[in-house]
Amino acid sequence: MKITIVGCGNMGLIYARSFLKYNIVSKDDLLLVEKNETRKEDLKKLNIGQVVVPDNTLISDSDVVILSVKPQDFTELAADLKKVLNEKTILLSIMAGINVSFLQEKLQHQKIVRAMPNSPVEIGMGITAYSLSKAVSIEDAHKVENLLATTGRTLYMEDENLLDAVTALSGSGPAYFFYFVQQLIEAGKKMGMTEATASLLVKQTMLGSFHLINNANKPLDELIQAVASKGGTTEAALTTFAKHNVNTHLQEGLLNAEKRAKELAAAAAKSNS
Ligand SMILES: NC(=O)c1ccc[n+]([C@@H]2O[C@H](COP(=O)([O-])OP(=O)(O)OC[C@H]3O[C@@H](n4cnc5c(N)ncnc54)[C@H](OP(=O)(O)O)[C@@H]3O)[C@@H](O)[C@H]2O)c1
Repeated sequence: MKITIVGCGNMGLIYARSFLKYNIVSKDDLLLVEKNETRKEDLKKLNIGQVVVPDNTLISDSDVVILSVKPQDFTELAADLKKVLNEKTILLSIMAGINVSFLQEKLQHQKIVRAMPNSPVEIGMGITAYSLSKAVSIEDAHKVENLLATTGRTLYMEDENLLDAVTALSGSGPAYFFYFVQQLIEAGKKMGMTEATASLLVKQTMLGSFHLINNANKPLDELIQAVASKGGTTEAALTTFAKHNVNTHLQEGLLNAEKRAKELAAAAAKSNS
C-alpha cells in the first residue's frame, strides 16, 4: 500500500509510526508532507518516509492520503493537493469539524473518510470513529479500517453529524479523565499523602475500576451502590457531589464541548469558503 500523510505533527507522526510498526506500509511507500521547517528536518533525520511538498506528483500514486493538519490550514493546502489527487485515492481526514461534503467540494474529490481519533492512539489504545462518503467502496473502507486499527479500536458512524458529539465525548475525553485523576491526586495530597503515593493509589484505582466496568456484568448504578454503603465514606463524597450538582455540570461541560465543535465547524467552513 502507498500512503501519504499531510501534516506530520503529533497525529501525523503517530500514524506514520503505527503503520510502519505493523508493516502496513514500507518507508519507501510512505510520503510525508510537512510545512514546518524544523519538523521537516526532524522527519528527514528520522528516515521513516520520503518528505515531499503538497503538490508532488508522487502523491497521485497513493492508495490513501491522510489529512492531519489543523482545520484552519486546510484551505491553503486544498489548492495544492487537489492538483495531484487521483480519483482512486481514498482521502482520510482527521481534521475536527471539517465535514465530508466540504472536503469533497474543496478538493474536487469524491472518496472521503472523515475520522475522529483520540490521544491514546499514541500507544495503540485509542478509539477512532469514522464516516464514509458514498463513493467509498467496501474494499476502500476495509483498507482504511486496517490503517486506523493500528492505533486502537474503530467505530463506524453511519450518521456523520454525530462526529461532533464524538469529538466532545471520546476526542476530548482523555482530557476530562486526566482532569478527574488530577483532582483525586490533589485531594490525596490534601489528606497528607505524597504525590507519588496518591498517584499510585488513584491510577491503579482507575485501572481496576475500568476492568470492573467491562467484566463485572453489572450496571454502573449497581457498581456505585456496591461501594457506597449507607452512612459510609463513599456516600459522604457522593452526597457532596450531588449537593453541588456535579453530574449536571459534567454533562453541561460535554454538551458545551459539542456546541464548540459545531461552532468550529461553522467557522472553518466560513474561513475556508
Ligand atoms: N491531537 C489530538 O488529540 C487530536 C484528536 C483528534 C483529531 N485531531 C486532529 O488532528 C489534526 C492534527 O492535529 P495535531 O495535534 O497533530 O496538530 P499539529 O501537531 O499542529 O500537526 C499539524 C502539522 O501540520 C503542519 N501543516 C500546517 N499546514 C500544512 C500544509 N499546508 N502542508 C503540510 N503541513 C502543514 C503544521 O505545521 P505548523 O506547525 O508550521 O503549522 C504541523 O506540523 C487536527 O486537525 C486535529 O483537529 C487531533
